[in-house]
Amino acid sequence: MAAKKFKTVLIEKGKGAEKGITWLILNRPEKRNAMSPELHFEMSEALDILSEDPDTQVLVLTGAGKAFSAGQDLALYFRANEKDAINRVRTQKASHAWRWEKLVSFPKPTIAMVNGFCFGGAFTQLCACDFAIASNTATFGLSEVNWGIIPGGIVSWNVADVLSYRDALYYAVTGDPFDGKTAEKIRLVNYSVPAPKLKAETIKLAKKLMTKSPNAMRYTKEAIRAVRRMGVNEADDYLTVKNQACKMTDKIPGRDEGMRQFLDEKSYRPGLGQLDLKKAARRKASSAATPTTRVRAKKAVKKKK
Ligand code: ACO
Repeated sequence: MAAKKFKTVLIEKGKGAEKGITWLILNRPEKRNAMSPELHFEMSEALDILSEDPDTQVLVLTGAGKAFSAGQDLALYFRANEKDAINRVRTQKASHAWRWEKLVSFPKPTIAMVNGFCFGGAFTQLCACDFAIASNTATFGLSEVNWGIIPGGIVSWNVADVLSYRDALYYAVTGDPFDGKTAEKIRLVNYSVPAPKLKAETIKLAKKLMTKSPNAMRYTKEAIRAVRRMGVNEADDYLTVKNQACKMTDKIPGRDEGMRQFLDEKSYRPGLGQLDLKKAARRKASSAATPTTRVRAKKAVKKKK
């Protein structure tokens, strides 16, 4: 599927060995990717398109130029909407929809690749992504306090959720900027790497994710997020049903094939690695084939030779 063109958002699809990785890029580098109303509407649409895009197996969110995102655009998101209540609410809805609702429920794995400045409102999309990798030289900051507001939208909730109480309070109240290494230390990101290695490390993680069963991954990330807010009994109930749903919706099906490859074929060890998904797909295709389609397939192979 060809990538749709937007004004403030760029979609780039990986080719060759990087096929399956889609880069979703905030594209206002001259404004350090500050989020304008137009960017919110375009991002919201882009995520709808990509969530159903068969070419997209892993989504990487990043920014063009030297910023991930400098947060909400003070001129266009705040000041320009001050006297326009209708536009203000419309923009707030789009802003929340893509930065949180659509990203957090995105059906494929998501990685935030923090290439540079990441301030204020940008923490929401950072926390919504399943994984985050930063450049050692990235600069993070809950800068709201520096211009007299609180980390609004749901940023205070995001940082209270992801960080320790001490770190959330410290960085929100002081507004102190911090680098990628500190972001790793306080577990805001999974890891931080030297700037020249950022893209390669992100691709490495994306490729690892693409070896896993898409269904198992999707259900797992949904389960981990959901159980965090449940009591143990509720979680037990939920996970029983979730597991059944995962099994029933799995096109591979990974569970049966995994057991077959481990117990019968002895071709892999689930504790140490991933079942062979290609082999599983081939088996499924051959068991689904009728005698007639099998004969046709054999004839087609002979003809090719
Ligand atoms: N809103 C509006 N415009 C912005 C924003 C923003 N959040 N951030 C940067 N810009 C604009 C600047 O006004 C400037 O525009 P101009 O070229 O028309 O003058 C352009 O982007 C480049 O910015 P500079 O400040 O010149 O770039 P520099 O690289 O020196 O600094 C930095 C970058 C540190 C990100 C600085 O721009 C900054 O502090 N921005 C504000 C960050 C912030 O506090 N964000 C939180 C907003 S609140 C919220 O999100 C809820």
